[in-house]
Amino acid sequence: MDAVSAVATAFWAMLPAYLPNNAAVLAGGGPPVDGGRTLAGNRLLGEGKTWRGTIVGALAGTLLAVVLDSLTTPVGIALGIDLPGFPLAVALSLSIGAMVGDLGASFLKRRMGRSRGAAVPGLDQLDFVIGALVLTAAVAPAWFTRTFSAPVLLVVLLLTPILHVGTNTIAYLLNFKSEPW
Ligand code: CTP
Ligand code: MG
Repeated sequence: MDAVSAVATAFWAMLPAYLPNNAAVLAGGGPPVDGGRTLAGNRLLGEGKTWRGTIVGALAGTLLAVVLDSLTTPVGIALGIDLPGFPLAVALSLSIGAMVGDLGASFLKRRMGRSRGAAVPGLDQLDFVIGALVLTAAVAPAWFTRTFSAPVLLVVLLLTPILHVGTNTIAYLLNFKSEPW
C-alpha cells in the first residue's frame, strides 16, 4: 500500500472516532456521568464528563459513519482508493469506543490526582483512539484486520495526535474549550 492510500484509509476509517470528542465539547453540559461520586477522595470521572456530551458524541460519530458508508463507493472511485465501508457494528464501536476511551482516561487522571482539565500528554491525544480500536477489534475482528494493516495503524497513531492538537487549539481559540488540550 502506498503512503497516500495509507493516509486516506487511516483518516477515513477513523473519522467516526474523531467526531465524538469534538461533538461532546460542543454539546457538553448538564449532569455528570459519575453523578458526583468519589473514590478515595477524588471524583470518579469529574464534572467534565457529562451524559449529554457522551450521548451526543457517540450519536454524532455513529451518524457520521452511516453517512460515510453511503459515500464509500463514490469517494473511493474519485480518489482511486479502496476505502472501507462502515457496517453498523463498526459505526457503533468506533464512536462508542472513542467516548469510552475518553471516559477511561478521565478515570485514570482522577486516580493520578489530576484535577479536571489537567493535561496528560499522550493520554489526552490517544485515549479515544485506543478505545475505538480496542472495541472495534473486539466487535468486528475481520473488518479490523482488513482495514487496519500495519501501515494504516502506524498512520493512525502518528496522525491522530497532530489532528487532535490542531482541532483542540481551534476549539480553545473559539472559546468552545477552556484548555487547548
Ligand atoms: N465533554 C462532555 N462529556 C464528555 C466529554 C467532554 O460533556 N464525555 C465536554 C465537557 O464540557 C468538557 C469538555 O467537553 O469540559 C472538554 O472535554 P475534555 O477536555 O475531554 O474534558 P475535561 O473537562 O478536560 O476533563 P478531564 O480532565 O476529565 O479530561
Ligand atoms: Mg481536557
